[in-house]
Amino acid sequence: AKIYIPRDTTAVSLGANEVVDALIQQLSTNSESIEIVRNGSRGLFWLEPLLEIETAEGRIAYGPVSAEDIPALLDAGMLQGQSDHPLCLGPTDEIPYLKNQQRLTFARAGLIDPLSIDDYRAHEGFDGLKRALGLNAQQIVDEVKASGLRGRGGAAFPTGIKWQTVLDAASANPQKYIVCNADEGDSGTFADRLVMEADPMMLIEGMCIAGLAVGASQGYIYLRSEYPLAKQILDAAIDSAVTAGYLGDDIQGSGRDFHLEVRLGAGAYICGEETSLLESLEGKRGLVRAKPPLPALEGLFGQPTVVNNVLSLAAIPFILARGGQAYADYGMGRSRGTQAFQLAGNIERGGLVELAFGASLRQLLQEYGGGSASGRALRAVQVGGPLGAYLPESQWDLPLDYEAFSEAGAVLGHGGIVAFDDTVDMAQQARFGMEFCVVESCGKCTPCRIGSTRGVEVIDRIIADASDHKSRDANLELLDELCETMEDGSLCAMGGMTPNPVRSALRHFPEDFAKPSSTQP
Ligand code: NAI
Ligand code: SF4
Repeated sequence: AKIYIPRDTTAVSLGANEVVDALIQQLSTNSESIEIVRNGSRGLFWLEPLLEIETAEGRIAYGPVSAEDIPALLDAGMLQGQSDHPLCLGPTDEIPYLKNQQRLTFARAGLIDPLSIDDYRAHEGFDGLKRALGLNAQQIVDEVKASGLRGRGGAAFPTGIKWQTVLDAASANPQKYIVCNADEGDSGTFADRLVMEADPMMLIEGMCIAGLAVGASQGYIYLRSEYPLAKQILDAAIDSAVTAGYLGDDIQGSGRDFHLEVRLGAGAYICGEETSLLESLEGKRGLVRAKPPLPALEGLFGQPTVVNNVLSLAAIPFILARGGQAYADYGMGRSRGTQAFQLAGNIERGGLVELAFGASLRQLLQEYGGGSASGRALRAVQVGGPLGAYLPESQWDLPLDYEAFSEAGAVLGHGGIVAFDDTVDMAQQARFGMEFCVVESCGKCTPCRIGSTRGVEVIDRIIADASDHKSRDANLELLDELCETMEDGSLCAMGGMTPNPVRSALRHFPEDFAKPSSTQP
């Protein structure tokens, strides 16, 4: 029998390695011959560790499995496939959470052994690169433009246009770079990590294609240090790709070169901002640079550089293999393709949901998420990370689309969705928004560095003066002015977007600012 047990951070933190040990121990006492494959997670995190048995009819899933369950599962006939054990979930592909998704980028997540080039190739791996090697640079860029792909880090800038800028950039020194932003720092997000741990070859292939498209022979993955397992898996995947001739000199006998290395960050949220990321990559302190010049023209070491998020680069192999139009066929309006939504916080079924743009937040929270984990009513949802707005229930029917969100004063960001139930104190959440900025500001500009500290103080006064209307109103006015200064006067999104959570909390949950709070630290 072939058994799949994930090796990614989520599954391992929930006991996947202990499950493997228990299996090996149990099976050493009987003569059953089994092969254990350490795949990546399917992204159905509430079912991890999710164990799958390969059968003639496809894979049968069991989850969440703990080491203590193993003897009973073996007794129930798990190795033969479907059993009547309560942890048996039936065919993996039929689990509605997975079946109802539109998985383009995450099609292979959990299906393959992340470190097996053969497995990757057997599932359309390197088809995009193969095609790209037969095209010229402009044709590759045109394919990406046709896909309508927009930056999945959060800013949604058209990827094809960014690549065109780098392709056209003239420079005395011909060296150009591809930099992958894998400093996934938004609250509740894990899609980048899932790509790197479940299907790292896809990212490698995407970066290699980007290199061919713009004429860059060197790439760096800037990875947050909080992802040690992703680092291990990426390093091993890069070594295999070099050995198999998909990276390094003379890729697949084409005469083209592309080299790739992983670099670790040091735990600063601001290093996810592209210019401070580049500073950090150059070995300096992660201070934001003023734009212009754009990194596309003067980026890493002053050279033309593509800086793309993991998910943007991970979408590229599909786009090249199947054609830009195949990707553009999904989505709505100017939001083409799919988005990897990440359900987290107080939610019953947390995990990754890849869907075409256009679904609603309510669908995600109810149909996929299954409501709150606490069983209480959901009250607020923060979409797009710590700088994203809090949405009340009246906004949960908005289509998940860049433009619709921006019209509603919200952002989709990197697709992180953090749910809160009705015990949340939104005044404290607003305070946290400012406090986060105090801690994470790079310090370069005053509205962000000083403004956020003043913001915490003003919110504290608002909470303390809840019953003194005159003083509270004066402080609310001050907070409004402060937010305006931060929005208009900050150099980057850190200071510029911190007012999002604060203002949305005030606008949609004013009652929480009117009562004396007992939870103030
Ligand atoms: P931006 O709008 O300044 O730029 C977006 C991207 O397009 C950048 O890479 C920029 O260099 C590029 N660009 C702009 N004009 C260009 C041109 N004419 N040619 C070529 N390239 C061009 O946004 P920024 O400051 O890079 O990012 C802000 C966004 O980041 C926010 O919208 C937020 O949602 C998101 N964000 C994401 C986080 C995460 O952890 N993924 C954390 C915090 C914010
Ligand atoms: Fe640095 Fe904040 Fe200014 Fe951004 S807004 S450059 S993080 S001080």
